[in-house]
Amino acid sequence: MKKKVIIAPSILAADLGNLRSEVKRLDKAGADCIHIDIMDGKFVKNITFGPTVVSSIRDSTYLPFELHLMIERPDLYIDKFAQAGSDLITVHYESNHNISKTIGMIRSHKIKAGIAISPETSFQKVSHFIPDVSQLLVMSVHPGFGGQKFIKESINKIKEASSFRKRNNLDTIIAVDGGITLETGKEAVAAGADELIAGTAILKSKNFKDTIQKFRSITHD
Ligand code: DX5
Ligand code: ZN
Repeated sequence: MKKKVIIAPSILAADLGNLRSEVKRLDKAGADCIHIDIMDGKFVKNITFGPTVVSSIRDSTYLPFELHLMIERPDLYIDKFAQAGSDLITVHYESNHNISKTIGMIRSHKIKAGIAISPETSFQKVSHFIPDVSQLLVMSVHPGFGGQKFIKESINKIKEASSFRKRNNLDTIIAVDGGITLETGKEAVAAGADELIAGTAILKSKNFKDTIQKFRSITHD
């Protein structure tokens, strides 16, 4: 049987005045989880949600929440975001922290940990963390804003991560984030991605269900 691709809509592109109902719509439309982009105005030039926003939407769905922390000091906020109701917290290699310690902090809350890399960071830099994390998030745009164009070079990085995972017999999920459309999503999955994170393509579409179903037609060979 073909393995299902994980569809993770990013609420960065949601109608933010109606966040709870947007999350409910995504749930009804068949999303696999909710991707929440946390930005602090320092690591990236944008500010989004804090722990109180996460906890205020937590009871609008049973879907897992995956938090993508684009903040300078993720270690200082792990406890708060974990308590707010996260199922997975992904931190950036490029942030200012001791990565192993931060991963340990996340796991001490009995939730999954992930590591993200920005376009300028090679896979080599994080390969030794892969056995300790549930998700590798390959950014295919520069972090900070939705609606950017997919950076083609990310495909090679996904291929590299996928063959590393195979060689080492690991089951870390490879997620790709940024500029995902049906076309770029297909390429990413063919390269070895398991999870497609999409903001604009899903949240700015008229019918979430139709769009998610179209993404569902992308399968692993
Ligand atoms: C960008 C975020 C993405 C963003 C993707 O820094 O990490 O999750 O929401 O948005 P689109 O799909 O519009 O590129
Ligand atoms: Zn993201």
